[in-house]
Amino acid sequence: MKNIVHLISKNCSLIIKVGRVPEILHWGPKIRQIDPDMLLSTERPISQARLDVDVPLSLCPELGSGHFNAPGLEGHRNGNDWAPVFETVERNVSENSATFTLSDAIAQLKLVIDVKLDFESDVVQKRITVTNIGHDEYSLSKLSSTLPVPRHATKLMSFHGRWSREFQTHRQEFSHGGFMQENRRGRTSHENFPGLMLGDDHFSEQSGQVWGFHLGWSGNHQLRADVKSDGRRFVQAGELLFSGESILAAEESYTTPWLYGCYSNSGLNGISDRFHRFVRTNILKFPVNKPRPVHLNTWEGIYFDHKPEYIKEMASEASRMGVERFIIDDGWFIGRDGERTALGDWYLDEKKYPEGLEPVIQHVNDQGMEFGLWVEPEMISKESILYRNHPDWVLELKGYHQPSGRWQYVLDLQNPDCFAYLFERLDSLLSQYNIAYLKWDMNRELVQPGHEGRPAVHGQTQALYRLLDRLLEAHPEVEIESCSSGGGRIDFEILKRTHRFWASDCNDALERQTIQRGMSYFFPPEVMGAHIGPDEAHTTRRCHHINMRGMTALSGHMGVELDPVKVPEEEKLAFAKYIALHKEFRQLLHTGRSFRLNASDKRQHIYGVKGHEELVITVCQLAMPEYALPTPLRISCIDVDATYEVKLVEMPETSFQLMKQRPQWLDKTLTLSGDNLKEIGLTLPILDPESALMVHLKKI
Ligand code: DGJ
Repeated sequence: MKNIVHLISKNCSLIIKVGRVPEILHWGPKIRQIDPDMLLSTERPISQARLDVDVPLSLCPELGSGHFNAPGLEGHRNGNDWAPVFETVERNVSENSATFTLSDAIAQLKLVIDVKLDFESDVVQKRITVTNIGHDEYSLSKLSSTLPVPRHATKLMSFHGRWSREFQTHRQEFSHGGFMQENRRGRTSHENFPGLMLGDDHFSEQSGQVWGFHLGWSGNHQLRADVKSDGRRFVQAGELLFSGESILAAEESYTTPWLYGCYSNSGLNGISDRFHRFVRTNILKFPVNKPRPVHLNTWEGIYFDHKPEYIKEMASEASRMGVERFIIDDGWFIGRDGERTALGDWYLDEKKYPEGLEPVIQHVNDQGMEFGLWVEPEMISKESILYRNHPDWVLELKGYHQPSGRWQYVLDLQNPDCFAYLFERLDSLLSQYNIAYLKWDMNRELVQPGHEGRPAVHGQTQALYRLLDRLLEAHPEVEIESCSSGGGRIDFEILKRTHRFWASDCNDALERQTIQRGMSYFFPPEVMGAHIGPDEAHTTRRCHHINMRGMTALSGHMGVELDPVKVPEEEKLAFAKYIALHKEFRQLLHTGRSFRLNASDKRQHIYGVKGHEELVITVCQLAMPEYALPTPLRISCIDVDATYEVKLVEMPETSFQLMKQRPQWLDKTLTLSGDNLKEIGLTLPILDPESALMVHLKKI
């Protein structure tokens, strides 16, 4: 049919009707063929006391055509051209992608809307470019991507958080009005992760229809989900532009960040599975055959107290425990003795390292480990050589007093001299030293982010991407971690030029369980930095047994974050055990399909990873079990026709308080069929609060 564009992926269809403007008619399960009467059967009635015409919920809804909810585009040209109405003038369609060109000759604007449906992962990508085809400047206030969801998407799950408590989920009704999230913090943020789920009435981890969304952007954003008064509903996401931030000169364009979406008929597991697949094949650039090395990061071990001989001792201990990459965190550069000084002076502190950094790196390498270094390039301390020489490089609004954040300020990356300085510093560090890995930190929000007086979050974010891209071009081997006070800059766009996230500064394993679960809806385990911290967590003062800490760190990209020299030998052996366990299952964890199971005890998290031939499942008891006896573990995602060898891999060794007799199978290897495991399940031991066990299942 001429007016229909049908994009197809493995499991999904995206059907777009192209009238005056393109409008999505269906986004969900794959439709085998489009019926000749489909257009007629989807024609809407016009209700009483409203406009006399049907108003499409188009790919860029227009105020000017009578869409009374959030328009896709807002702006004006000297007070005019503020309600454009577009006409489709061109389309280019292939099996998995479509580009629509729309034009408004009166407002003198052109839109190019790109929609792609990735065949393997079923992930939809959408972005819009607006071009000013008039002579005068056009002030763009908003350009967002809109994707509709069907009427039976009646529940909404959003993400909120804060430092050390990221990726918290919140469920609510999605029936009238809507939901809105705005981020003005200048980075992806701990508070407002740009992701959202909409689902049917009872969607869960394992079941239900769900539509998942993520805006790939590391600056400000607006994310909303609206129910129109006629019942139609949509999600809209784009960059939040400050007044005057985007003024388009003649022929100038603005392109939105990519909005990613996917549909699942198997609950949130289907969403994460699709996003993970998409990330692995379309976003991540990581050598396929290289296992992700286990880290030791020095931060919580020594903070700013750097003594090369001691650091070497730490490295030796780390390698004895099985660590494969040793990272020197904050405190290595000239004058950096605490939080208030030296950011910007990216030269080795020779007082701390009189022999240079080379002997430390050599020692690390001699222990068979890679070396990594912490940097925070976008920042400047007022007490620094850089600030004394270039006070004008600060991103600020002249004449105002700007509050500091962690006693530091942000550099204006759009200033070419500043950009060149940062590139030169990073380039020369990477050239001089054998650095395999940069931990790229960013520890404050942007307040009054002005470049030459104009709002500059957009420009700053693009400049950051450019800096990372140039660096990776010059040093393609280096891996970069996106750490922004842990968890502050986690999104698909930054992941295109980084390799791992520091998921949270919170190493408290109990808190981490929830943070990591929230993050797992979008990101696969191999990019989720997860470290075993000291027994008393530095952020919460809560103490955890090594079982809980080890098991929680094990399922991401594992690391250790403490001083291994000070740890008692017994604890070191325990670290070594969990590191070995991680390595044993690393290939499966980092390539398999992650899932979460619905736990009937709400105080449990049950999650795992499935490969072709095997699965691992972790059960974590977050708090006192609800009942005296645990619910059998029923494994919904198992292959029902297969037979499995089932073994307990790990549970706390200490004597149990809540259980006086262990189920016998814990010391045996069971043989169980997939359908037994799915329907009858496996009876678990009783877990004490804040402990975890792991089961391995292998197909026979
Ligand atoms: C914040 C990071 O999240 C920490 O891991 C650590 O690198 C500190 N900054 C260093 O200042």
